[in-house]
Amino acid sequence: MDNFGEFFRGKRVLVTGHTGFKGAWLAQVLLNWDAEVIGVSLPPHTSPSLFEILGLEKKVVNYYQDINDFNKVKEIFEKEKPEIVFHLAAQAIVREGYNDPLKTYATNILGTANILHAIKEVGSAKSAVMITSDKVYENKEWVHSYRENDLIGGKEPYSASKAAADIVINSYVQSFLHPEHFGSKHNTLVATGRAGNVIGGGDWANYRVVPDIVRAVYEKNEPVAIRFPRSVRPWEHVLEPVSGYILLAKKLYEGDKSAIGAWNFGPHDESFVSVEELVKKGIGLLGKGSYSVEPDDSKPEAGLLKLDIVKAKSILSWRPRLDFVSNLNFTFDWYKNFYEKKNDPVEFTKNQIDSFFSK
Ligand SMILES: NC(=O)c1ccc[n+]([C@@H]2O[C@H](COP(=O)([O-])OP(=O)(O)OC[C@H]3O[C@@H](n4cnc5c(N)ncnc54)[C@H](O)[C@@H]3O)[C@@H](O)[C@H]2O)c1
Repeated sequence: MDNFGEFFRGKRVLVTGHTGFKGAWLAQVLLNWDAEVIGVSLPPHTSPSLFEILGLEKKVVNYYQDINDFNKVKEIFEKEKPEIVFHLAAQAIVREGYNDPLKTYATNILGTANILHAIKEVGSAKSAVMITSDKVYENKEWVHSYRENDLIGGKEPYSASKAAADIVINSYVQSFLHPEHFGSKHNTLVATGRAGNVIGGGDWANYRVVPDIVRAVYEKNEPVAIRFPRSVRPWEHVLEPVSGYILLAKKLYEGDKSAIGAWNFGPHDESFVSVEELVKKGIGLLGKGSYSVEPDDSKPEAGLLKLDIVKAKSILSWRPRLDFVSNLNFTFDWYKNFYEKKNDPVEFTKNQIDSFFSK
């Protein structure tokens, strides 16, 4: 499992969403392993942004391209002929889904169909990993963890759009990229990654807990406002799902049909904790800050959400590498370095990647 470096060297890997939080980490991981990275995204939408801090614009073949424009997307695929595709581009914020549901549905559903269609039409990719979410599951607000074969659905636009994207992905596999016809009618194996609530250094998106903590403490010097203190989430470090996506991409590339389908990449059970607990621990690690609870029921989000990872553990031999405490240390150390110690953030990020994958 650990010969990723050797595997990715020189491979042409297209990442959508590389200007975002998870995509920038994924792009940096692939660059660490000498892959040729092609990025397709809108320009970075936060300031600061990890994409800019890592200087990715100059290190990847960079396209600022809206994935809603199929013809342009296809042109990029035709020109770059990627061997591996990771699709992360999305309107990724639950609260933004309420603000702009049509954009959320367009990008997350049709944008995903556009990427799949380009993969199918151009045919260069041997492996495609499509990223949806833990929020695809029809949330029953129960204590059980969701498994890959549980019912999917969504009560608000973001979750519904991701559930719909999941259905679209499956329909492309069944209709055009079926594993039975792999090697005869097409050459692409496809899998779907469903991660939990991802945290880590370098995220400054709006309406997310860790960026809210960091902004309140370092930029606004005010208490962190918590909207849903008792909501429980499967918190995991960004490199955990990234390691899962990478493992899937390699297996699919090597023609391993057992890697197709949907996969949960979540944390150990001890990481299912409430927003309030996460905020308290984060403030403790930063050594400064306070919080206030400011409930807002106008845009409800799931209260209780846990992920079952037995399938990925038993079939892919994937495992979360960080426990909750190590995850928080990785995350808040990154911001402490950025705001206080000011060691080179590129080196710091590369070192975290090396340290993570050596575990
Ligand atoms: N962060 C999480 O906790 C989490 C959890 C589960 C799943 N996900 C999923 O992981 C993926 C990445 O999430 P993130 O946290 O990095 O989000 P992000 O908001 O930081 O980044 C989103 C990326 O998508 C790109 N994008 C958005 N609309 C686009 C469009 N129309 N055309 C081209 N590019 C577009 C943006 O430019 C950016 O690069 C998303 O698919 C998201 O739904 C995230």
